[in-house]
Order: sequence, then C-alpha cells, then structure tokens
Amino acid sequence: MAEDTPTPGAPLLPDASSMPGGAVLAVQDLVKTYRLGDEVVWALNGVSLSIEAGQLVAIMGASGSGKSTLLHLAGGLDLPDSGRVIVEGKDLSSMSDRQRTLFRRRRMGIIFQAYNLLPTLTAAENVAVPLLVDGTPTTEIQKRVEQAIQVVHLEKRMQHRPQALSGGEQQRVAIARALLNDPAVVLADEPTGNLDSVQAEEIWKLLRKLAHELGKTVLMVTHEAAAASYADRAYVLKDGRLVGTIEEMEPGNAALVAARYTQLAG
Ligand SMILES: Nc1ncnc2c1ncn2[C@@H]1O[C@H](COP(=O)(O)OP(=O)(O)OP(=O)(O)O)[C@@H](O)[C@H]1O
Ligand SMILES: [Mg+2]
Repeated sequence: MAEDTPTPGAPLLPDASSMPGGAVLAVQDLVKTYRLGDEVVWALNGVSLSIEAGQLVAIMGASGSGKSTLLHLAGGLDLPDSGRVIVEGKDLSSMSDRQRTLFRRRRMGIIFQAYNLLPTLTAAENVAVPLLVDGTPTTEIQKRVEQAIQVVHLEKRMQHRPQALSGGEQQRVAIARALLNDPAVVLADEPTGNLDSVQAEEIWKLLRKLAHELGKTVLMVTHEAAAASYADRAYVLKDGRLVGTIEEMEPGNAALVAARYTQLAG
C-alpha cells in the first residue's frame, strides 16, 4: 500500500545509542502498568534480557505473570511506560508508529496461539499475505512462499484451505507466513496452546530449527515445561519480574524444567 512506502533517501530508522554485545533482541528495564479503575496492575516491573542470533529462548510464568505483555512490547505491538526494546540495534520506542509498523513487518515475525489464517485462502495464499500488502512482484512472492513452505514441510498442503488442515499444520502455515520477509526475530506466544502433544512437539522442533539452522532469534512464551525444554534458555517471570533462568535443558525432558521452575517460581 502506498502509505507504507518509505520516503526514498530518508533514513528509515533512528539508531539506538547502545546494544548489548551480540544481542539481536534486547529489552532493558521494561516497565508496563495497566490501570483498572483505581487499581494499577504492574504487568512488567523492570525486566531486562537479551537474545543472540541463533538462540531459542523461552519465557515461562504463571497466567498473569506478564509473558504476553513482554512479547507484545518486544514486537513493538505496544509501548512500555519506561525502558527500551532494541532490535538489531534499533530502539523501537524512538520510532514513529509507522516506522515501527514497517520495521516489525520487515524484521520480525509473530506467531500466536490462534493461527489467524484467512479461511477462504489456501495455505500458500495465506503465507503470501505479508507480501501482497507490500506490492511485491508475483514471481518473487511465489519464490518466497515456496521457500517458506519448505522450511515448515508443508509442500503437500499448499493448496489446502485452513479447514482442511490439522491444527499443527495450520500453525506451520502461520509460521511460514511469519518467515516470509526473512525476519531476524521470531516471536511466538503460546504457539502450541491449542495442539495435542504430538503436534506441539513438531512445532517446538521447528522453532528450534529456525534458531539453530536458520540463525533466527526466537522468543517463545509458554507456561509448559515441555515447550521450554526445547529452548536454549528459559527465563522465569513472576508477577512482572524475572525471578531466574533455567539453562542446560534437554529437549523433551519436561520433568527437569518443571523441577527447576518450581524452585524459582513455586
Ligand atoms: N489491556 C490490559 N488492561 C488491563 N490489564 C491488563 C491488560 N493486559 C494485561 N493486563 C494484566 O497484566 C498482567 C499480565 O498480563 P499478561 O497477559 O502479560 O499475562 P500472561 O503471563 O501472558 O498470562 P496468560 O498465561 O494467562 O496468557 C495480568 O494481571 C493482566 O490481567
Ligand atoms: Mg499470555
């Protein structure tokens, strides 16, 4: 769309003054409150973390601990009361709304628990949506859709509509769509919340592959120990604060993660 076309020659993005060494995504001292009548909810109360390229990091925490708030701020879908979000050296809070929207579309892919596919479009058409709004030539769109579909192994389902796909397949379409612009960062909020354990495991392995084989920086929000076990590191949130980190996990070993989680947040 014309309104999304950057002005030629104008700098697209302001520079961030600093970036923790090697991190692609960093959040610093994030504070986010919500007001409900007279009550103030501290959804995030001073959260800092950074993630390097090629890492899959999980954010764990009970319901209401601030996980989705953190993911929304990391993706520039909302702004913090204070603190900074820095992606590839760019400070999201110093961008205009339009710059932030463009930056998100080009450099970040976001996946939610609900797959948010358009029911009348095929899998391939759903994957293509981010490029259709950008006015990209058809041959380029086709090439990139095929590449993204290959990453998620859905070559045989490209012409299916969402209702003819399993939940796991629909989420893989959503992941392919999130990959279409070759983003640096992939954010996933409870991506397997609607899936059975077999389909969920495929998604966790896929997110791990995006990080380890494709070099993406992946942040996954989950309340499930099994999901977090696939990550390189898990941060534990409690009442809007980070209370600890779980490292040296074994993929699939949920009991190990659950035991450490209970020590930190229980
Ligand atoms: N728009 C909003 N208005 C008011 N309060 C909100 C809003 N969004 C979130 N909150 C509150 O902020 C806190 C953190 O919410 P958040 O959605 O980040 O939690 P969560 O860890 O993702 O929980 P869940 O596991 O249930 O998804 C909660 O107390 C929630 O009620
Ligand atoms: Mg949530």
